[in-house]
Amino acid sequence: MRELLEKIVAEGEVVTDGVLKVDRFLNHQVDPHLMKRIGEEFAAKFHCERPTKVLTLESSGISPALMAAYELGVPLVVARKRRPLTMTREVYRAEVYSFTKKETNEIIVSRPLLDSSDRVLIIDDFLANGQAALGMVEVVHQAGADVVGIGIVIEKAFQDGGRLLRSRGFRVVSLARIGSLTDGVIRFHEGVMN
Ligand code: G4P
Ligand code: NA
Ligand code: NA
Repeated sequence: MRELLEKIVAEGEVVTDGVLKVDRFLNHQVDPHLMKRIGEEFAAKFHCERPTKVLTLESSGISPALMAAYELGVPLVVARKRRPLTMTREVYRAEVYSFTKKETNEIIVSRPLLDSSDRVLIIDDFLANGQAALGMVEVVHQAGADVVGIGIVIEKAFQDGGRLLRSRGFRVVSLARIGSLTDGVIRFHEGVMN
């Protein structure tokens, strides 16, 4: 998606260890116009799968996921990392380990929000090792629902998440794919999505 790649070049910063900082339009400050375009792009790619819900994980997945849900005309479910006071114990739950942060997080969704008739589109801001996406897949499967696709804003193609998810048969659409972040330079991945 050209506008996204241009934005990454203009405003993305390489910080240490293969990490891309996009605090000016995605992770901290958010560009609403770009999010709207991202939502339209995901809707165009996935409407044929007839999703009934979009699922993301708080917090940075919410902006692109909301716009995708809006364009598709379906609700957005935001999985939580901690159980809010108002959430009952009737939950789907998965544990995910973050290699980047070296910590285990929970992914929690209230049971009444997903059921076996749902066709779920998973959206997230970043794909690195794929653990967050796999955790969301697990939660969807606990509900007996289907994952109809995984939409990612920025895939770090030099990490294993994309390969892992695609090898399990999921349709993964990434709007930007980073080939490398070495020497402080952002290089996009030119290859096919596998
Ligand atoms: P994985 O799910 O693909 O295995 O990813 P990983 O554990 O490595 O990522 C942990 C957190 O770090 C996630 O955010 C993810 O979006 C973010 N992340 C991973 N690589 C990058 C990167 O290069 N740049 C940026 N900006 N973020 C990255 P989170 O902890 O869930 O936080 P939140 O931002 O959603 O609140
Ligand atoms: Na995220
Ligand atoms: Na993030």
